[in-house]
Amino acid sequence: MEHLNEKEGLKKEVISAAVKYFEFNKREEKAFKPGDRIHYAGRVFDENEICCLIDAALEFWLTAGGYARQFEKKLAEYLGTGYCSLTNSGSSANLLAFMALTSHRLGDRAVKRGDEVITVAAGFPTTVAPVIQFGAIPVFVDISLPSCGIDCSRLSEALSDRSKAVVLAHTLGNPFDIENVKAFCDRHGLWLIEDNCDALGSQYFYAGSGAVREVSGISARPVFTRPTILPRVKAGLSAQTTGSSSRL
Ligand SMILES: Cc1ncc(COP(=O)(O)O)c(C=O)c1O
Repeated sequence: MEHLNEKEGLKKEVISAAVKYFEFNKREEKAFKPGDRIHYAGRVFDENEICCLIDAALEFWLTAGGYARQFEKKLAEYLGTGYCSLTNSGSSANLLAFMALTSHRLGDRAVKRGDEVITVAAGFPTTVAPVIQFGAIPVFVDISLPSCGIDCSRLSEALSDRSKAVVLAHTLGNPFDIENVKAFCDRHGLWLIEDNCDALGSQYFYAGSGAVREVSGISARPVFTRPTILPRVKAGLSAQTTGSSSRL
């Protein structure tokens, strides 16, 4: 018992020293003044994350552990999706999302080698890489400016008998025209894969019914996590530490 108390005491000391260190760093942060460089995004974290990080490190949890499961649960709740699975990166999430649609369990709707997948000409490499890696054929549609999202007026030109899916990213957090793209997919029986890597926390008013997309990939890369969502996921996690849309 004494041994356990000592261990817990040490842990508290280590964590509180780390939080103090974090607070020093925070005090050194300079307030923005006109003329400073404006970063389009940045790392967003506070002492709660430091606590979780140190806690996991003390147990040497370098792979998915208890925090990973909590995060999956909280994120699924936040997104209102049935299922959420952590991967090592947004690119891997995109790969898994696409590969799920190649499953033989989907019968005629499964994406097969040689099938076509509609995407944009100006997009992120790992939105389209899984399509090429698998041996399906990407069909590129132009984007429209200034949104950098797909030009929906060109969608029907890209359609053929071999079209099976549409794979699109919300460029730099700007949602593409979900309403039009979803209606197009529904009309032609196509899967919609959303690469949401840049856009966790972005909002779009969607008046349609049912889930917008079948599968979606998200990146936790620091530049893409937005201050609006992380505190809400974190709040749930830290409360515990301090004391799918998928149709597949
Ligand atoms: C649209 C888009 N998709 C996928 C990714 C890949 O995410 P990750 O860096 O987590 O692999 C990124 C960013 O890097 C991205 O901007």
